[in-house]
Amino acid sequence: MLSEKATNISPAATIEISARIAELRRQGINIISLNIGEPDYPTPENISQAAKSAIDAHFTKYQPVPGILELREAICKKFKTDNGLTYRPNEICVSAGAKQAVFNAVFVLCGEGDEVIIPTPCWVSYSEIVKLVGATPVYVPCAPEENFDLNLTGIRSAISSRTKAILINTPNNPTGAVYSEQTLRALGELAVEHGFTIISDEIYEKMVYDGAEHISTASLSPEIYRHCITINGFSKAYAMPGWRIGYSAAPLEVTTAIKAVQGHVTSAANSIAQKAALEALSGPQDTVAVMCGEYARRRSRVAQLLQEIPGVRFSMPSGAFYFWVDVSAYLGKSHGGKKINTAVDLANFLLEQAHAAVVPGEAFHMPGSIRISYANSMKNIELALTAIKEALALL
Ligand SMILES: Cc1ncc(COP(=O)(O)O)c(C=O)c1O
Repeated sequence: MLSEKATNISPAATIEISARIAELRRQGINIISLNIGEPDYPTPENISQAAKSAIDAHFTKYQPVPGILELREAICKKFKTDNGLTYRPNEICVSAGAKQAVFNAVFVLCGEGDEVIIPTPCWVSYSEIVKLVGATPVYVPCAPEENFDLNLTGIRSAISSRTKAILINTPNNPTGAVYSEQTLRALGELAVEHGFTIISDEIYEKMVYDGAEHISTASLSPEIYRHCITINGFSKAYAMPGWRIGYSAAPLEVTTAIKAVQGHVTSAANSIAQKAALEALSGPQDTVAVMCGEYARRRSRVAQLLQEIPGVRFSMPSGAFYFWVDVSAYLGKSHGGKKINTAVDLANFLLEQAHAAVVPGEAFHMPGSIRISYANSMKNIELALTAIKEALALL
């Protein structure tokens, strides 16, 4: 009954664990979530207020497919000041989250038989979006010894006549890597030489630490700019994941195709949420700095606590709000007659034993590791990591 494409989509590797978390919570057990992919902060008040005003002003009609002009103008201004990028409002398309923007980008570039390079570990949806449009994901692992920087040698050898795009994410979910100008320039030159597009997901751009600098690939040269689709959104920096607003920026021809697709799938993003997003960009920015300052403090504390756990290995993340932790030293061990063979088994063990939820590496196409999020309070982080240390000592 179902189409080949529908049956080809993998359910998230976390579904089983999520069901178990819900079950344990139903039993009254306090599970601490270090598996979270969204800020633990509420949306800043000025942003919520703009949405309330939009409702009161009955701003509830259909809006232009690529988004309201004021918001696209504000996005262009943000690109100019933050990223040194010049886009015109008609080169921007506002979507229902960065996720839809990634989908639109892959859809307009790729079809059956095309290939999309995906550096791994990667965000859960990239591979499935590529498969949804009938294209083939080509995975190129990044190495822990190189702090999960892009593996340019691997990317070079993965390029074929069918390569249409590469999907990159900097700062990176799940590794926290922030790609350097040198790396991005080398990737950009490959894209220009071989004629493929870089889809650059920059949704964590505000979360960078220890002097790391976020660079937009498209800013590196006019040729590279023509080979980029830049994606960003409001979910992380402005703590607005439920509002569902993201956007893409690309040369006019590409954005025109994106608008056409979106016009037949969802039309414009939510009108009220667009007014909220406009306030996010044009209102005061101090809450962003406060949230990022707090993430930085938590990041240092997580690193300290992880260092106290024998056998785990990690690179200090330069961005986002995650640690990517190699737990392979614990695989093959047993507890209570149960063998822990994979990171999924280990994540289940930590859930049962430490009452802490983490995401197994399998979800990101790289087994042997787990992702720990610090989008949680300092107190919860300390409690959970202490419990994780005690649980691992049992193995
Ligand atoms: C790398 C990456 N891109 C995109 C998204 C989705 O963002 P949005 O909420 O804007 O759809 C996420 C959310 O977790 C993410 O981690």
